[in-house]
Amino acid sequence: MKMNANRLNQTAKKFLQKIRLHYLAYRDIRRFTRYAAFSVFDDSYDQLCARIMYNVHAIEKGLSRGKNMRVGFGRKALANLNDALVVYSGKGYSRETYTYIQGRSIVHRYIDAHGKDAGLDLGTLDVVDQSFHVGRDTFDAAGTKTIYAKDKLNNSSKGFYALSQGRSSVREFSGERVDIEKISNVLRNAGKTPSVCNRQGWHVYVVTDKEKMQETLRLQRGFKGYPTLPECVLVIAVTNSAFLSPVERNEAFVDGGLFAMSVIYGLECESLAAVPLNAMMNAADERDVRALINVHDSEQIIMFVAVGAFKDETIVPISDRKPLSDYMTYIA
Ligand SMILES: Cc1cc2nc3c(=O)[nH]c(=O)nc-3n(C[C@H](O)[C@H](O)[C@H](O)COP(=O)(O)O)c2cc1C
Repeated sequence: MKMNANRLNQTAKKFLQKIRLHYLAYRDIRRFTRYAAFSVFDDSYDQLCARIMYNVHAIEKGLSRGKNMRVGFGRKALANLNDALVVYSGKGYSRETYTYIQGRSIVHRYIDAHGKDAGLDLGTLDVVDQSFHVGRDTFDAAGTKTIYAKDKLNNSSKGFYALSQGRSSVREFSGERVDIEKISNVLRNAGKTPSVCNRQGWHVYVVTDKEKMQETLRLQRGFKGYPTLPECVLVIAVTNSAFLSPVERNEAFVDGGLFAMSVIYGLECESLAAVPLNAMMNAADERDVRALINVHDSEQIIMFVAVGAFKDETIVPISDRKPLSDYMTYIA
């Protein structure tokens, strides 16, 4: 049959593309190396804010265990938060910002949870500078909130903004069975996600086998200590075989991230509780997950999503959001 491509040309092109890929990947590494917040002494405003939020979140998660909260938990997160706040203050950044207030708030919520409810001697907060303990009543932006199953009943008839603003990551489940038809609806809808040149390289593994779920979550390492297993774990992957050129080297993450967001909103629409879980595994754990679920080597694992039914009431982190002015630049 008629063939237009010439094998020699294609082989030469492939060789050049590989060189270009290395160059572009080197630029990725260089940018990441320069700007990531590897150390607390990486002290740009953005780097310190990221470090503050990371630790605020860790403490919010600990507080959201409610009655199962481990008294005195999170000493490392508190120490890291303290150091980021100290460097932040030392740099003279504003104390009126969203992030600074988040950092201060969570120290107060931690004290409240221990001092008021658990009766812990506040002296155990020795990793936190005394100045961050004062002015308690003014800082309440961070902490926990309660999600009620009854508020989720009509999710499918909510408007999009109400649905998305009402969604929160939920890490505890009732243990009630999840209808696989609902998961199929969610994934069918997510298939409408835009992807670069409509490549649609995604593949979702729906894991319901309890042992495999348990082992996947153990290897994922970001979902520890919750009393009930989810009803299923979705493993969202995108094949690198969907991409044609070195400039598309990160598209698996972009298309996969968009797809995952469609899945997460779909689950909310179906009144299912869910939490996205990172796929930032070390090499050995990733190899084991791939072997366990049979994920093809061509596929990039983008994210896991744990899914279950809502409990009547669940305490979750507030996970408050930045104001629009922090992330919108209007260029007229
Ligand atoms: C890519 C990604 C990875 C995440 N990984 C984890 C994780 O490993 N463990 C976890 O408990 N939550 C994880 N989350 C959930 C985030 O903590 C959560 O989305 C964030 O705090 C905002 O809260 P919200 O989802 O309740 O609005 C992840 C979220 C995303 C988007």
